[in-house]
Amino acid sequence: MELEQKWITLAKAYAEEKCQHDTSGHDISHSLRVYRNAQMIMRQEAVNVDELAVALASLLHDTVDAKLFDEKYALHQLQTFLKDCQIPAATCDRVLEIVQTISFHKHIDPSALSIESQIVQDADRLDAIGAIGIARAFAYGATVGHPMYDKNSFSASVSTATHISNHTTIQHFYDKLLQLKDKMNTSTARQMALQRHELLLIFLKQFQIEI
Ligand code: ADP
Ligand code: NI
Repeated sequence: MELEQKWITLAKAYAEEKCQHDTSGHDISHSLRVYRNAQMIMRQEAVNVDELAVALASLLHDTVDAKLFDEKYALHQLQTFLKDCQIPAATCDRVLEIVQTISFHKHIDPSALSIESQIVQDADRLDAIGAIGIARAFAYGATVGHPMYDKNSFSASVSTATHISNHTTIQHFYDKLLQLKDKMNTSTARQMALQRHELLLIFLKQFQIEI
C-alpha cells in the first residue's frame, strides 16, 4: 500500500512536469480531477478493477496525448518512467494500454475496452463537460487560436442546432461535448454526467441570448 502511494506521488510529479506550461485545459489540475473522478467511479461500481493501473493512468493519460506531444516519443518516455519506478510489469502494461485507448479521436469501440480503460475514459470525459468542461473548451480554443463563436451560424434553437462553421469553440460543443453524456461507459459516470450536461445546455442558451 505504501509502495502504491509512492508510485501515485511519482506519477503526479511526472504529469505535473510534463503539463507545466499547458494553457489548453490539460494542466495538472485536469489530471487530478480525472484521478478523483476515476476514484469515485471505482467506489460506486462494485467491479473487480486493477485500481493501481486506473489511478496511475488517470494521472498520466495526457502525457501521451497526440494533441500535446509527439505520441510515439511520449509513450517511450512514459514506458521508461514506469520502469524506473519499478512498477510491476503487468501494471505498466495495463497503464500503457489504458492511456493509448481512451482518446476520443481514436474512436475505439467501447465494448473492446477493458473495464480499467472504460473508467479512465469516463473520468476524462466528465472533465470535458459541466462548468469545468466549459472553461476548458474556451481555454483550449484560445490556445489553438479558435474564435469563440461565429455569429452567422449560431442557430436559434439549442436542442436542434447543428453547426457547420468549423473551428469555433461553440462548434466544439455540438461536435463533441453535447454527445458525451450518452457515451459514458459506466452507470456511475452516466449519472454524474447528467447535471454537467444540463449546464452545457443552460450555458448555450444564455450565451445565445447575450449574443
Ligand atoms: P480526447 O483525448 O478524448 O480526444 P480531447 O483531448 O479532445 O479529448 O479533449 C480534451 C479537452 O480539450 C476537452 O475539454 C475539450 O473540450 C477540449 N477540446 C478539444 N478539442 C477542442 C476544440 N476543437 N475546441 C474546444 N475545445 C476542445
Ligand atoms: Ni484528459
